[in-house]
Amino acid sequence: MSNNDLTNVILAAGKGTRLKSSLAKVLHRAGGRTLVEHIVRACEPLKGRETVVVVGHQAEQVAAIVEPLEAVTVLQHPQNGTGHAMLVAKRSLGRAKLAVVLPGDAPLVRAETLKALITAHRNGNAAATILSAVLADPSGYGRVVRKSETAVSAIVEESQLTDEQRDINEINSAIYCFTLEKLWPALAHVKPNNKHRELYLTDAIAALSAKGETVLAQVAADSREVLGCNTRADLADVDRIFREWKRNALMDAGVTIQLPETVLIDPDVTVGEDTIIEPTVQLLGKTKIGARCTIRTGSVLTDAVLGDEVTVEPHCVVAESRLDDGVIIGPFARLRPNNHLKAGARIGNFVELKKSTIGEGAKAMHLSYLGDAKIGTKSNIGAGTITCNYDGFNKYPTSIGNKVFIGSDTALVAPVRVGDGAYIAAGSTITENVPADGLGIARGRQVNKPGWAAKKRRELAVIEKPKKKTAKKSKRRKATKKRK
Ligand code: UD1
Ligand code: MG
Repeated sequence: MSNNDLTNVILAAGKGTRLKSSLAKVLHRAGGRTLVEHIVRACEPLKGRETVVVVGHQAEQVAAIVEPLEAVTVLQHPQNGTGHAMLVAKRSLGRAKLAVVLPGDAPLVRAETLKALITAHRNGNAAATILSAVLADPSGYGRVVRKSETAVSAIVEESQLTDEQRDINEINSAIYCFTLEKLWPALAHVKPNNKHRELYLTDAIAALSAKGETVLAQVAADSREVLGCNTRADLADVDRIFREWKRNALMDAGVTIQLPETVLIDPDVTVGEDTIIEPTVQLLGKTKIGARCTIRTGSVLTDAVLGDEVTVEPHCVVAESRLDDGVIIGPFARLRPNNHLKAGARIGNFVELKKSTIGEGAKAMHLSYLGDAKIGTKSNIGAGTITCNYDGFNKYPTSIGNKVFIGSDTALVAPVRVGDGAYIAAGSTITENVPADGLGIARGRQVNKPGWAAKKRRELAVIEKPKKKTAKKSKRRKATKKRK
């Protein structure tokens, strides 16, 4: 489809009073993206001349999201309604003949639906074509008033409905295709005849119809696509639908998702075939998961990259880390950013990693902190091992070679290096480098004192017993004295 006569206009200047928020409405998130980003992306496949976003509330933040997506912004200040927003955009529309106009708060619309709207508009030679939908509960939306089966006479806002019109369940999505040379004169006739004293773009529909122009309404095949987000409840509904669509797409691509309604997956996440995702998992950001992995219940992965056959046991938190093929982590592992776990590495329960590389087949199975550490192939990190990587001012690295055995409860005071094949005795505080194949031992020597405990118990028994008796006797004596 060639649309080089068409520009997209997204109206995103409003505050969103009904959200009761300090954040502008279009900056709220649903389905893992801001509302406005969803809409800019839906417009991209239309291949129009450009996408113009009308900004107002928190204009800079909105611009920071849409400009990297190659949209241009135009400032509406003050915000005098959707019709006024369109007039503000006018000077940015250049020589476009048609405009697809979208609100910034209806993010579920798909490009296919917009393409069908444009086609209907062109085929019908219309001045305006409204994307409408039939809703079981139309409350909150403007209603489409038809004068015949095909032609529309007006859009009436909820606050201005007559009792009869209130029963109309065909609603205005606020997504339209306009022929601009027809829209501008009609919009010039629109007056702010409403309690907010705003210029409503919807009123241009009645003006066009009154002039005898063709106004069509195309009913969306899936009415969910037009849902607007005016309230927190609307945001939750829209988020739920986005999440469902994402999960369905992954299941169609061969991913098993158990109790899918409990699983949250961001739009850019990819998952390979035959991977199993257990209930209540969250896969966020740009996470990429290979084939035949298992992500077990309660785990949250953000910007993680997993190879094939990786197992994430229950309740792990992983951020910005790479887990190669066959890695197993958890339960209850925490991977803070910048770790690389090489093939077959294992990280067990209550192990925290930060900026560390764990070599092939290396293991740290219990209760450890490994930060700024490099651990070689097949090394074993004992329970309770801590890298002391921070002296209150700077961070220092720990380097552990291949096939090293670190005994339990070792503190490695960085910067420090342990050579290939070395052993560290349990309970050591290692402050100096340990050579390859050597033993590092740094702890107090044990002294056994035979019979010490038995002797101590005998001493305590003698001292404690008489004390108690004398205390009671003297109390009794005092009491009898008083009575006398
Ligand atoms: C609007 C429609 C209504 C439709 C509904 C669908 C109007 C008057 N009404 O109502 O018929 O059923 O959408 O969701 O258009 N905006 C600006 N500048 C302004 C005012 C608003 O850019 O001065 C933007 C808002 O940021 C928002 C969009 O326009 O993204 C729609 O405004 P909103 O207040 O949400 O209109 P609704 O009451 O939902
Ligand atoms: Mg709205």
